[in-house]
Amino acid sequence: MENSFADKVFFCNSGAEANEAAIKLARKYSKEQVSPERFEIITANNSFHGRTLATLTATGQEKFQKGFEPLVPGFKHVPFNDIISIHKSITKKTCAVLLEPIQGEGGVVIPEQNYLKEVRELCNEHNLLLILDEVQTGMGRTGKLFAHEHFDITPDIMTIAKGLGGGVPIGAMLSTDKAASSFNPGNHATTFGGNPLVCAAAVATIETLLEDGFIIDQCNRMGKYLKEKLDQLKEEFPNLIVDVRGKGLLLGIEITRDGDPIVRACLERGILINCTAGNVLRLIPPLIVQQKDINRLVDVLEEVFERSF
Ligand SMILES: Cc1ncc(COP(=O)(O)O)c(C=O)c1O
Repeated sequence: MENSFADKVFFCNSGAEANEAAIKLARKYSKEQVSPERFEIITANNSFHGRTLATLTATGQEKFQKGFEPLVPGFKHVPFNDIISIHKSITKKTCAVLLEPIQGEGGVVIPEQNYLKEVRELCNEHNLLLILDEVQTGMGRTGKLFAHEHFDITPDIMTIAKGLGGGVPIGAMLSTDKAASSFNPGNHATTFGGNPLVCAAAVATIETLLEDGFIIDQCNRMGKYLKEKLDQLKEEFPNLIVDVRGKGLLLGIEITRDGDPIVRACLERGILINCTAGNVLRLIPPLIVQQKDINRLVDVLEEVFERSF
């Protein structure tokens, strides 16, 4: 909390659980403190928020929902990076807007610099909570402790997990006092949430991450180095690579074909990457990655790209 906007934190075991907590808190706060009619949450197309029933409903991708209908009522999906669509979707039932500051699973999509600021203003104007899902983008991944810092805004609620425990399962929902005031003891809980073992791992992770800013600096330096190398690959393979984008060590290479065969070919050569949105290769190396590791990654990508022609 010391290093964030938040006053209160709720601990759980995963990113999906953190988002469940955020959805429940947003509904309870808005019903009790704004209007009993409010329960709807606006989320983005191509978003990813987890695989529990409410979070897969919040997720704006049908492939994660198929077979699990009926879905949870009260979610509206709008195009990401389109402020007018959010504006048009707000009704007297809306209670919150839930977004990833940078879409990960959606294909490493970075919004326009002003987008989140405008969303923040819209939320203020309509008394909506802004929930940011930083499960993937948080904990230094994009070169700042939290990705929303790139956009000069703060949310009312933020969810984190993944890197938080440095490999042990922990998630957290962080909130302002105002929003958190609607959760009373017993409203939400989980047996293992906040247990001393995983919290000790999270404390050690955060201390290491913030120690002299070293790891986040390293993430920025290595992210810049990797991006430069990928830009060179883009020049070398103009018919294959459409775009290289990202922040810090969350990078995407958009290609003109299905990415799965490339992911498989990289795996055969000992390099683990994945493909999101069908044709965006996503690279999320550890924050402690070294230049020599990046050189090897780029060599393998170059070899695989050459063979895919
Ligand atoms: C943005 C985002 N939110 C939520 C989740 C779900 O987290 P978990 O797998 O820990 O439930 C993920 C996982 O990939 C994610 O990327």
